[in-house]
Amino acid sequence: MISYYLTVITIVLGVGAYLWIARTRRRAQAGLAGSAFPVSSARNDRPLWEVYKEWSDACGSTMIHLMLQRSDVVVINDYPTAHELLVVRSLDYSSRPHFPMMDLIGRQDNVVVQKYGQRLKIARQMINDTFGSRKSEEWLPVVQTVSSEFLSRLLADPADFRRSIQRYVGTFTTRLTYGKDLDTDYLRLVDQVGEHVSQAAVPGRWWVNSYPFLRYYPSWAPGGGFQRWARHARGLFREFTLRPFNSVKEQLQRSPDTVPFSFVQKNLIQVKNDPSMETIVAGTAASLYSAAVDTTSSILTTFFLLMATHPHIQEKAAAEIREVVGQDRLPNLGDAGDLPYVEALIKELHRYHPVVRFLTRSASKSDEHGGHLVPQNAWVLTNIWAITRNKSEFEDPDQFDPDRFIQGGTHINDIRARDPRDFTFGMGRRRCPGMAIANAAVYLAITRVLATFLIKPVKDEGSNSAPQIEFTKSTIS
Ligand SMILES: *[C@@H]1O[C@H](CO)[C@@H](O)[C@H](O)[C@H]1NC(C)=O
Ligand SMILES: *[C@@H]1O[C@H](CO)[C@@H](O)[C@H](O)[C@H]1NC(C)=O
Repeated sequence: MISYYLTVITIVLGVGAYLWIARTRRRAQAGLAGSAFPVSSARNDRPLWEVYKEWSDACGSTMIHLMLQRSDVVVINDYPTAHELLVVRSLDYSSRPHFPMMDLIGRQDNVVVQKYGQRLKIARQMINDTFGSRKSEEWLPVVQTVSSEFLSRLLADPADFRRSIQRYVGTFTTRLTYGKDLDTDYLRLVDQVGEHVSQAAVPGRWWVNSYPFLRYYPSWAPGGGFQRWARHARGLFREFTLRPFNSVKEQLQRSPDTVPFSFVQKNLIQVKNDPSMETIVAGTAASLYSAAVDTTSSILTTFFLLMATHPHIQEKAAAEIREVVGQDRLPNLGDAGDLPYVEALIKELHRYHPVVRFLTRSASKSDEHGGHLVPQNAWVLTNIWAITRNKSEFEDPDQFDPDRFIQGGTHINDIRARDPRDFTFGMGRRRCPGMAIANAAVYLAITRVLATFLIKPVKDEGSNSAPQIEFTKSTIS
C-alpha cells in the first residue's frame, strides 16, 4: 500500500492552474446543473450575479424585474423570498424556461432541463431510491474505492491535480451510473453533447427559441441549417444515451448475476421490461454525468486553490484530522461528527464559491410577492451568489473563514448561521437529488487530501506573492 499514511506530500500548484481557472470556459455545462441562461453580460465585464445584487441593493428591493430577449425576468436576491417562492410555493415555480432548440436536439427529457411533470417526478424518485442517503451501503463503497484511486493518482502526478479531480468525479459517477468505467470515445461524446446543450441555450442565437413554430421549418429550405445542426446533435445525443445503457441491458439479459450494482442495473430490474419506463431509466442515467461532474469538480478545484492561499486554515484542518483520526488510517465518513472544523471548512467552501450562481425557473402562473408582480412564464432567477454575500447573515462575506460556522468563531452574526448547502444545491422540488453522494465524495476527497498532502502555491520568480485567485465568469466555475 502506498506510504501516504505517514508521509505528508507536498502539492505545488502551478501557475497554470490559476490561468486555467481564470479562463472563461465556453462550455457552460452550468446549463445542466442549474441554470442554462443569461449568465454572461457580454458588454459588461462584471459577472451578472454581482450586477444584479448591486441593482437590487441600489433600489432597496430584493426582487428586481428585467426584460431580456422579449421575456420577463424576475431576479430574487435574498433567501427569505427564494424560500417563499421556490419552497413554499414550489408547485408554481418548478418548471424551466422552455427552449424549443433543446427539444430539437433531443434534450427535452434531461432531468435538469425538462418541465416539472410526472416524468421528472419518476426520474427524481429513481435517483432518490438509488442514491439517497438511506442507500449509502450500496453506493458508498464505490466512492470510497475511487477516492483511494484519486490519492494514488495525485501522488503520481501532483501537478496535474485538476485532471485527477475530474477523473475522480467522472469515475465514481460512471461506475455508479453504469457499473463500469467508460472509454475515451465515450468521454469525447460527453464533451460534444455538453457543448451542444450550451450552444442550444445561447440567448439570441436561434430564431426558433423566440419563434417556436419554426421548429416545423424544413431542413432543406434556405435558412434551414439550424435543423441540420439539430439533427446532427440529436444523433450524437442518442448514441450518448443508448450506448452504455444498452450494454448494461444486454449484460443483464445474458448473465444477470454478474452485473455489478449501478443506477441502470437496479432500475432496469425494478421496471421489469416496461419500455416507457426503460426510456426514463436511460434518459435519467444520461443526465447524471453532466449534472455531477463539472459541479463536483468545481468544488474540489476551489478547495485546492483556497488551501494554497490560506495555509493557516489548511494547517488547522489538517491538525484536527491528525488529532482525531491519527496517522495510520485514512479518514472516513464515520469521522464526520468528530471533525467540526473540517465540516465548517466544507460549508464555507460552498458559501464562498457557490458552484451554481443562478437557479433558473419559470413561473407556471402569475403571482405576487411583497408587492412585486411575477408574470406568468417569467423566468425566475434566484441569485445564489447574492444570498452568500448577505452581510447580516455572513459578516465580512468576501472573507474565506470557516470559523464563521463555529460556535464563538469570528465573522458571524448569528451562531445558527444557515448551512449554505440549504440553497447551493438548489431549493424546492428541483433540489439536487444526488446531494448525499456529492457530499460524501467531497468529504472523502477533502479529508483524505488534508490527511496526506500539503498544498502550496508556486511563488512567482522574484516577487514573493502567490498568484491571485480568479474564478471564471460562466455559471459553473
Ligand atoms: C439577509 O438575511 C436576512 C436573514 O435571512 C434576511 O432577513 C434579509 O432579508 C437578507 N437581506 C438581503 C438583502 O438579502
Ligand atoms: C427521498 O426519499 C426520502 C425517503 O423516502 C424522503 O424523505 C426524501 O425527502 C426524498 N428526497 C427527495 C429529494 O425526494
